[in-house]
Amino acid sequence: MKPSLGKSGVSSTSGAKISFRAAGKTFPLKQGEFTALDEVSLDIADREFVTVVGPSGCGKSTLLNLAAGLAEPTTGQVLVDGAVVTGPGPERGVIFQQYALFPWLTVRGNVEFGLKLTSLSAAERRRKADHAIELVGLKDFADALPKTLSGGMKQRCAIARAYAVDPEVLLMDEPFGALDALTRVQMQDQLLDTWTQERRTVLFVTHDVDEAVYLARRVVVMAARPGRVHRVIDVDLPYPRTEELRLSPEFARIRNEVWHAVYHQEPVAPKAPVT
Ligand SMILES: Nc1ncnc2c1ncn2[C@@H]1O[C@H](COP(=O)(O)OP(=O)(O)OP(=O)(O)O)[C@@H](O)[C@H]1O
Ligand SMILES: [Mg+2]
Repeated sequence: MKPSLGKSGVSSTSGAKISFRAAGKTFPLKQGEFTALDEVSLDIADREFVTVVGPSGCGKSTLLNLAAGLAEPTTGQVLVDGAVVTGPGPERGVIFQQYALFPWLTVRGNVEFGLKLTSLSAAERRRKADHAIELVGLKDFADALPKTLSGGMKQRCAIARAYAVDPEVLLMDEPFGALDALTRVQMQDQLLDTWTQERRTVLFVTHDVDEAVYLARRVVVMAARPGRVHRVIDVDLPYPRTEELRLSPEFARIRNEVWHAVYHQEPVAPKAPVT
């Protein structure tokens, strides 16, 4: 199939794991409508790690919600494995910007919850849940209720819930935003470890330029008003990513390029009047 070029200039071929095809989202307002996302075309390959950065309100969560099937595009389509997304699915694990835990369930109960829809036995569910809880460092809190956890621990519980289901696609919306700097770095390394071992496809939203570069093969920089893809920057650095790499001049160069693309965006030229 011939690649087609979307408005953002990113080619869209078949065979991508996730494919945004001129996918846009408008919200109705009292007067007119608001374009949160303007025809994004972007392909994410199977087992690719892509991060999304951009100013607040530029449509990052909206983009992720379209892939998650939690919102419907008003223009275009989103495809996963070539099929149009019409709702959430077990092959797509979502970690929300605002962690959503059931307050009446323990950490283990919350993590096991997503596994209840599978055909796994109770013992197997417990094993998978405990493995995920251990991965995020909450082993000693498996029986604790969310109200007794710190914000960062609640977030790690939400992450464990998504990991436990073993989804092919992880859609993560600022998952490490509530974590302290040290835990954040540990969680980044651990996410990269599981990604290398199990090779999921990851679409990861973050405000943090360092994090975006450290994790990804490609960084999608978005712009606001209307929300759109501004630039896609390749991160041509080898895996495994290490602390040494994080401190290297090559890393600094790419980080500066992304930083510049995020924080020094040209204002959108006003549309010429139609004559
Ligand atoms: N349900 C809604 N109704 C109206 N406008 C909305 C709705 N949801 C989002 N928006 C608007 O769409 C734009 C994009 O929102 P979105 O949450 O995707 O931004 P974001 O890039 O994730 O921001 P942040 O970095 O602050 O999380 C914002 O201007 C927001 O006000
Ligand atoms: Mg958001």
